[in-house]
Amino acid sequence: MSEELPDTTETETAAEVTTPATPATPVLPAADWSDEWSNPLRHPQDRRLPRIAGPSGLVIFGVTGDLSRKKLMPAVYDLANRGMLPPGFSLVGFARRDWEDQDFAQVVHDSVREHSRTPFREEVWQQLAEGMRFIPGDFDDDQAFKQLRSAVDELDASRGTNGNYAFYLSVPPKFFPKVVRQLKKHGLADAPEGSWRRAIIEKPFGHDLSSARELNALVHDVFEPDQVFRIDHYLGKETVQNILALRDHDGRGHRHRRPRRLLRRHRRRP
Ligand SMILES: NC(=O)c1ccc[n+]([C@@H]2O[C@H](COP(=O)([O-])OP(=O)(O)OC[C@H]3O[C@@H](n4cnc5c(N)ncnc54)[C@H](OP(=O)(O)O)[C@@H]3O)[C@@H](O)[C@H]2O)c1
Repeated sequence: MSEELPDTTETETAAEVTTPATPATPVLPAADWSDEWSNPLRHPQDRRLPRIAGPSGLVIFGVTGDLSRKKLMPAVYDLANRGMLPPGFSLVGFARRDWEDQDFAQVVHDSVREHSRTPFREEVWQQLAEGMRFIPGDFDDDQAFKQLRSAVDELDASRGTNGNYAFYLSVPPKFFPKVVRQLKKHGLADAPEGSWRRAIIEKPFGHDLSSARELNALVHDVFEPDQVFRIDHYLGKETVQNILALRDHDGRGHRHRRPRRLLRRHRRRP
């Protein structure tokens, strides 16, 4: 009998949305780089086709930082290169630099050339670059958040992002509360009718139980639980994947659904 597929709804990434794309610009043919990369967390029996994101944009706070340059911006490009992003996809960067949009685009370009996993294609890059905006400012700067709101509205009109935005907090953890509060204050956390807003929060989520609870309370004062995506890159590490594999099969035909029990068992019988 075939094994039941895991429920993957909780592990959707911000780019995976179900709304069909309404192209504002021509859709580029997707390149097939599937031989070069596969999602290690995907269940081998999962035969669903990868979903193309609907109209949407991504705002990255801390866009000049290490994570953004090495991982986030190249990953956005890779998604575009695989045909997984809508044609009007928009990328907004926020950081304390006196940059114009084109300076930002150059930084994205350099990080993509250096770190992306798929080959560089000029036509993919051009389409992506058209949707790039940069907002200079400090997290305390109300004016910068007003500018961000205007940029989002402008992109909705010019690129057809339809009010669908994910906010990626790639910032030092002490700023998570500040940025979340600013999103609320400036109405950026409120999704217009028929659209969505999401927040992606980097690790560490608090430094102990009480600080994690405090942050949790604040985040959920602003966003509903299903709008919040907490990132922990260690879930992609081999050791953790081995634990996931062990949870599914312990060698005796048992499936474990409670990792904590498994870890105790694993420790006793290495
Ligand atoms: N780097 C990684 O590989 C990695 C791995 C796992 C998790 N993370 C997590 O990802 C997050 C970002 O890490 P990172 O290594 O990219 O940090 P980082 O290199 O220190 O970058 C921090 C970013 O935040 C911006 N920033 C700092 N203070 C600001 C302020 N007051 N107003 C506006 N912007 C401000 C910086 O902009 P300026 O250019 O203006 O300073 C920079 O873009 C952290 O939560 C970290 O724990 C990182």
